[in-house]
Amino acid sequence: MRAVDSTVSVRHEPVLLAETLRFLLAGEGLYLDATLGDGGHAGALLEAEPRARLLACDRDPAALAFAGGRLARFGDRVMIRHATFRELPGVHRAAGGELLAGALFDFGLSSRQIDDPARGISFQHDGPLDARMDPTSGEPLHARLARADEGELARVLREYGDVRGAGRLARAIVAEARAGRLRTTRELAALVGRVSGGDRPKTLAPVFQALRIWTNDEMTDVDAALAWLPDAMRDGATVVTLSYHSGEDRRVKHALRGAPRVESKRRLPAMDGGEAAGPWEERTRRVVTAPTAEQWENPRARSARLRAFRRKPR
Ligand SMILES: C[S@@+](CC[C@H](N)C(=O)[O-])C[C@H]1O[C@@H](n2cnc3c(N)ncnc32)[C@H](O)[C@@H]1O
Repeated sequence: MRAVDSTVSVRHEPVLLAETLRFLLAGEGLYLDATLGDGGHAGALLEAEPRARLLACDRDPAALAFAGGRLARFGDRVMIRHATFRELPGVHRAAGGELLAGALFDFGLSSRQIDDPARGISFQHDGPLDARMDPTSGEPLHARLARADEGELARVLREYGDVRGAGRLARAIVAEARAGRLRTTRELAALVGRVSGGDRPKTLAPVFQALRIWTNDEMTDVDAALAWLPDAMRDGATVVTLSYHSGEDRRVKHALRGAPRVESKRRLPAMDGGEAAGPWEERTRRVVTAPTAEQWENPRARSARLRAFRRKPR
């Protein structure tokens, strides 16, 4: 295994920055950035609106340390807190509970996390099979796999990665993990190659993605945050979401449009810009994607889907 280098210096480029600020900014008030990351969106928001204050959260302590340094120049306009989405209600209450002027959820991972071999997130780097966004909490992926239920694992691979032959792969993963032979990203990549007949990015990426989502219980967190938001936002305030995975985007659509959540990828009735019954008015008639130039410069922007919803008057 290659030596672990935790001084990764890849800076995360904020995605769809101008569009995000255009929807988000609404004058004076307390804003929430629930996914601080490198602090790119956060710094731009504080610069663009001098009357904005920011509650900036992330579950990754390393992100908080890095972004905290970057945002220090904004002084007490920024409150930085370690929190997963499901902890946001408590953190927000403890910070005074002022209704939010806007909220941003830039889901998924930062480039810094993906490119750090010590995180064990990417098949492109060899490292411990960990995959946690917060290495101080929960258990690494290899430990979870060693006590995983084969059926649950197959469901995870199917639901979060659309993995073909999920049952066969789940069986092989569980057997290797229990035998203690699945402790690094390279070992997992090699196993997927043997079982699924290839170790190309096209085959590996969905498997690693699905297992990362499972390790971090990402979808449960997204649901918890979206359910809390209507009570936390002031009338007229906008929440902007940036999704990189169809599962997140589906959850956003269903939670904020007020429709019952459907787990399958069946198309929803056309509701863009429509009058939903819930507390939200949709501001993005169609999902916003990154302009071609941004997609060229920043490959992460290619899968980004931006949606914006305004809190209706109570
Ligand atoms: C795409 S990055 C955000 C990048 C940021 N907008 C910027 O401009 O630098 C996503 C960040 O959200 C954090 N995150 C993802 N899911 C989370 C969750 N459920 N709870 C808290 N933080 C989460 C990750 O740790 C990561 O730092």
